[in-house]
Amino acid sequence: MEKLDSILLDARKEIEGSQESQELNSLYQKFLGKTGIVTEQLKHMKDLPNEEKKTFGMKINSIKNEIFSLIKIKEKEFEKNKVEEQIKNTEFVDLTIPSKERKGSLHPITILQEKLIDIFLSMGFTVEDGNEIETEYNNFEAVNIPKNHPARDMQDTFYLENGQVLKTHTSAAQNRIMKKYGAPLKAIFPGRCFRNEELDASHENTFFQIEGMMIDKDVSVANLIYFMKEMLTNVFGKEINVRLRPGFFPFVEPGFELDISCPYCDGKGCRVCKHGGWIELCPCGMIHPNVLKMGGIDPEKYQGFAFGLGFSRLAMMNYDITEIRLLNSGNIKALSQAKIK
Ligand code: PHE
Repeated sequence: MEKLDSILLDARKEIEGSQESQELNSLYQKFLGKTGIVTEQLKHMKDLPNEEKKTFGMKINSIKNEIFSLIKIKEKEFEKNKVEEQIKNTEFVDLTIPSKERKGSLHPITILQEKLIDIFLSMGFTVEDGNEIETEYNNFEAVNIPKNHPARDMQDTFYLENGQVLKTHTSAAQNRIMKKYGAPLKAIFPGRCFRNEELDASHENTFFQIEGMMIDKDVSVANLIYFMKEMLTNVFGKEINVRLRPGFFPFVEPGFELDISCPYCDGKGCRVCKHGGWIELCPCGMIHPNVLKMGGIDPEKYQGFAFGLGFSRLAMMNYDITEIRLLNSGNIKALSQAKIK
C-alpha cells in the first residue's frame, strides 16, 4: 500500500514537471501502459491474502483514475497554452482591422449620384425612384411618342416578351410622378437606362441618367438655366457657363441641347472639348403640353422644364475616366484609378 502511495507521488511530480504533450504520452505509458508501473502492481494482487485483495484493488483503481485525470488536466493546459501562443504570434487574424491592401470605396457613379442628389435636395427638389422595367406607355406614349412614330427610332429599345421594355430613359417616370404629386412639383429621379447601342468608348447599353422636372406657374427657360448652372457649379466646384442649342425631343417644346463651357480649359479649347471650348452635356426643354395633360396637369395653368442628364458621361468627365465601358466592368483596378475629387 505504501508503495502505491509513493507511485502516486512520483506520478504527480513527473506530470506536473512535464513540458509538452509528448512527454505526457510517455508518462501515460510509464505508469498506466500495459507494462507500466501501476499495471505491474496489479500482478502482485494474486500473492495477497484474500481479505487484503479488495482494498488493494480499490486503491490501485483510484490511483489509476487519479493519474489519468492528472494527465488529462495537464494536456488541457498544454492546449490552452498553445492557442494563447498562436494568438500572441502570427496566426491570429483580426477581421475588424481595415485592410492596408485594398480599401473598399463607393463606385464613381454612386459617388456622383449622391452628390447630385445632395445638390438638388438643397434646392428644394424631392428625389424619386424609377422602375427599370417599364410599360411601353410610360416609356413612350406618356412622353408624347405614339406607337409607330419615327421618334421611337431615336432609342433602340430592349423589348421584353410580355411587351414591357427596359426603360430607355428616366423620362419614363415623368407620367407616374406627375400623377403622384400633381402641380406644383420639383423632383429629380436618377436611374439606370438601357439601349441596344453599338458599343464603343463612349456608348454603353447600360447607363445612368438623372431626370429633373419642375412644374409651377410661370416657369420659364430662365429657371431651367438657373438650376442647371447651380448644379454644375456645385459639381465642378467653379462657375460653369452654359449655352442652349435647339434640339428635338418629342416631350419638350422648345427642346434644347445644353452645352457647358469646358471645365478643363475654361472654354479656351483643349483635347477634351475637341478645341471647341464647349462640351455637350444634357438634353432639356420646356415640358410639352401633351405630356402635362397626360400627367393630369392643366397646361393652360402650369408650365415646366425637364432635363435628362446622362451622368455616366458626367462621371467620366469628373473622374477622368476615358472608357464608358469601365463604369460597368467591375474592374476594380481601373475604377480605383478614377480621380475622385
Ligand atoms: N429622355 C431624353 C433622352 O434620354 C432626354 C431628355 C429628358 C430630353 C428631358 C429633354 C427633356 O434622350
